[in-house]
Amino acid sequence: MKLVKNIITIDGPSGVGKGTLAFSLAERLEWNVLDSGLLYRLVGYLSSNEGLETSQEIVQFLKKSKIKLITNLNESICEIELNDKILGKDLRNENIASRASELAKETEIRNAIIKIQRDAYDSEKGLIADGRDMGTIIFPEAALKVFLQASPEVRAERRANQLKEKGMSVIMHDLLEQIQQRDEEDINRKISPLKPADDSLLIDTSNLSIREVEEKVMENFKKL
Ligand code: C5P
Repeated sequence: MKLVKNIITIDGPSGVGKGTLAFSLAERLEWNVLDSGLLYRLVGYLSSNEGLETSQEIVQFLKKSKIKLITNLNESICEIELNDKILGKDLRNENIASRASELAKETEIRNAIIKIQRDAYDSEKGLIADGRDMGTIIFPEAALKVFLQASPEVRAERRANQLKEKGMSVIMHDLLEQIQQRDEEDINRKISPLKPADDSLLIDTSNLSIREVEEKVMENFKKL
């Protein structure tokens, strides 16, 4: 397989710092960001808030919808335009994430969003792809694949801080439980489980600042 130098994949469990790293690299390199988790959250949202009960209904809805991914570098977030409605904050809560994780086990759901994810790559621009299976399934051709790790406690703490910054209330014990539950589902599912690609750069972020993680990735990027 011919390796592509202007795609960097970042995989790892929730709250490990993928999003923060993705945006700091995207700003530095002036690339786009694919937050693939947001697409799964959209699926969770359609199920929880829009009353689509089965995977088939969700897939049908996605097929006939106009879905656009937006990289908002000013606010360091990705957004989804769904049939001309911008969804952002509505998707970022742990209930939607848990529902997303349950539905992410379904083959037909995963298949339905493969093309949207691959289309996020514009060869002229470059892409940082953030998720669980970016290096293994969606962009195996990426020359640099990063896999981030950190203990569940450290990740719950980080996620709590992010949610608090957005003005949301947090119960630490519940958050830790939800994170562990999601890890379990993501690691043990049959299709596209969370695991490092064989050629991944593994980084434990527990005791590293975002700058230190960024530097490690850039050192490896410059060697390509
Ligand atoms: O990354 P985020 O926490 O937003 O993802 C929400 C859920 O979507 C994850 O817990 C995971 O189950 C699922 N997901 C996935 N594959 C991806 C990205 C997210 O299965 N590439």
